[in-house]
Amino acid sequence: MRSPIPEYMLEVLDDCRNTDGGTVADYIPELARANPERLAVAIATPEGALYSAGDDEVEFSIQSISKPFAYALALHDNGLEAVLAKIGVEPSGDAFNEISLEDETGRPRNPMINAGAIATHSLIHGGNWEERAERFRRRVSILADRELQFDEAVFESEMETAHRNLAIGYMLRTVGILENDPIDIVRGYIRQCSLTVTTRDLATMAATLANGGVQPQTGRRVFDDLTVRQVLSVMMTCGMYDAAGDWVTTVGIPAKSGVAGGVIGVLPGQVGIAAFSPRLDEHGNSTRGVKVFERLSTDMGMHLM
Ligand code: DON
Repeated sequence: MRSPIPEYMLEVLDDCRNTDGGTVADYIPELARANPERLAVAIATPEGALYSAGDDEVEFSIQSISKPFAYALALHDNGLEAVLAKIGVEPSGDAFNEISLEDETGRPRNPMINAGAIATHSLIHGGNWEERAERFRRRVSILADRELQFDEAVFESEMETAHRNLAIGYMLRTVGILENDPIDIVRGYIRQCSLTVTTRDLATMAATLANGGVQPQTGRRVFDDLTVRQVLSVMMTCGMYDAAGDWVTTVGIPAKSGVAGGVIGVLPGQVGIAAFSPRLDEHGNSTRGVKVFERLSTDMGMHLM
């Protein structure tokens, strides 16, 4: 007998398809070429089941959804104390590309905004941008249970217009949060953001977080419990940027969005969810992706409160 879940998912996609508004990100020229009509959803369980519908095999760049996983890797490589010395855990209330440094320490407010993510990338073990990005790629591939690749066109394209991230990198270097060449670190961060995933990959990766750091299909432990707890806490308060309050009240689970249109959500112990649709709202979150999550949260009673 076929599971009824994919039919339900198709119904959700149909209901969310006509959500108006939003535009495809164009500050990275390569992203402006995305088909704005794409729409997908996937749900993965800690037991290893994976359900999906829509454009679930279409590949797109992970962008800011790389940030929680890079944060997990930085925690794994350095320990909590060393990471907290460089990056705070407070919501900034600002846009994702604000400089947002704390006054006294110069720390970026959290690892989900670009400033914090650039600092996070610098803490991943590796001698240069290529080694850090490669270490990130390998680790995330274990989470997705398939060999993920970088999108060279997206990487080159973002490097060409990376003025703001470079400015943030130089600012972080000035206050001593970055200890090495900011150009090398920003390059590695942008490479990290260019990793290519599908909606199914993202749901599987989210399910690993839901499962306390153990990959559901292989049973392999990738991150320890405390690392996952730290990552999910920061996703809960900072993952949707200056829309965090709206998100927590309407959807109510830890989440992270990316400018290519992906969104992940994690219901600890229960499911990892991903949605994808390239048009973005004013916060840089997928317009229809947010709708899909609102619908799923209501139907499935996912809200943690
Ligand atoms: O650094 C940037 O601007 C992009 N590589 C990632 C930004 C992003 O995905 C923001 N999320 N919605």
